Amino acid sequence: MARTIAVSGTASGLGLAVRRRLEAAGDRVIGIDLRDAEVIADLSTPDGRDRAVEAVLVAADGALDGLASVAGVGPHLPSELVVSVNAFGALALLDGLLPALTGRPGAAAVAVSSNSITLDPTVRADLVDACLSGDEGAARAIAAEVPGNTAYASSKLAVARAVRRRVAVWGEAGVRLNGVAPGPFASALLDASRADATLGPLVDMVPIPLGHPGAADEVAAPIEFLLSDAASWIHGSLLFVDGGTDALLRPDV
Ligand SMILES: NC(=O)c1ccc[n+]([C@@H]2O[C@H](COP(=O)([O-])OP(=O)(O)OC[C@H]3O[C@@H](n4cnc5c(N)ncnc54)[C@H](O)[C@@H]3O)[C@@H](O)[C@H]2O)c1
Repeated sequence: MARTIAVSGTASGLGLAVRRRLEAAGDRVIGIDLRDAEVIADLSTPDGRDRAVEAVLVAADGALDGLASVAGVGPHLPSELVVSVNAFGALALLDGLLPALTGRPGAAAVAVSSNSITLDPTVRADLVDACLSGDEGAARAIAAEVPGNTAYASSKLAVARAVRRRVAVWGEAGVRLNGVAPGPFASALLDASRADATLGPLVDMVPIPLGHPGAADEVAAPIEFLLSDAASWIHGSLLFVDGGTDALLRPDV
C-alpha cells in the first residue's frame, strides 16, 4: 500500500533526491520547503514551524507513515539562522509529527545530521545544550558569537543527540527514529560553502577514503532504506554516509 511520507527540504538537493526515490517507489510525499513544495513554510521561525506541522497534518489527514527531516542551511549563512533551521526546525518537525506517526504500522523517521559533528573541533557544548533544551533565544545568542562552521556542527550534533535521546519515547510509540551523518555531497549548499572565502578552502581538505564527495542520491538511498521495513530493527542509529571520512579520522569507536 502507498505510504504517506513528509519530507522537508524537497525543493533542492538531498530532499529532492529523497522525494524522487520515494515517489518512484509509489509513496506519496508531502514536501515542506520555502518554495516548490506542498507545504510552503519557513522552518527558521516558531510560527513557520507551527504552520508547517499543521499543514502537514491537514494534508496527511492526521496519519503519516514516515518523515524525513532534511531541510537545512549551510555554514556560509548567518550562525543564528543556521541553528534556528538546522536544530529547531528539525526538532519541531520530529516532535510535532510524532503523534501522526504513532500507531501506523512500520512508521519511521530520519533526521539529517552531518559528519562535521565529529570532524569539527570547534563544536560548542553550550550551544548544543541550548538547542537540546529548546531555548532558541539562548542558542541564537551563543550562535551570534561563533563562526558559521561552529554553529553548523553544533546544530547538527544537537540533531544527532536528539535522535538518540528520543529512542525510548519513540520506541514506546512504535515509531523508529534514526539519523544520517553525511559528508560533503554535491548540492547548492556545498557549492555555496565552496564559494565562501573562509570556508571554501577547507571544504576539499577533508580526506575521503572513497576518493570523492558524494552525490545527493547516494545519501537519499540510505534514507530510503531507513524509512523502509528492511530497517525494521534499526532504531536510534546514526549512520555516517561520508565515503569513510569519520572512520578514517576516528577509527576506534
Ligand atoms: N551538501 C552537503 O555537503 C551536506 C553535508 C552534510 C549534511 N548536509 C545536510 O543535508 C541537508 C540537505 O542539504 P542540501 O545539501 O541538499 O542543501 P540544499 O541547499 O540543496 O537543500 C536544502 C533545502 O532546505 C530548504 N530550506 C532551507 N532553509 C529553509 C527554511 N528556513 N525553511 C524551509 N526549508 C528550508 C531549502 O530551500 C532547500 O530546498 C541539510 O540539512 C544539510 O545541512 C549537507
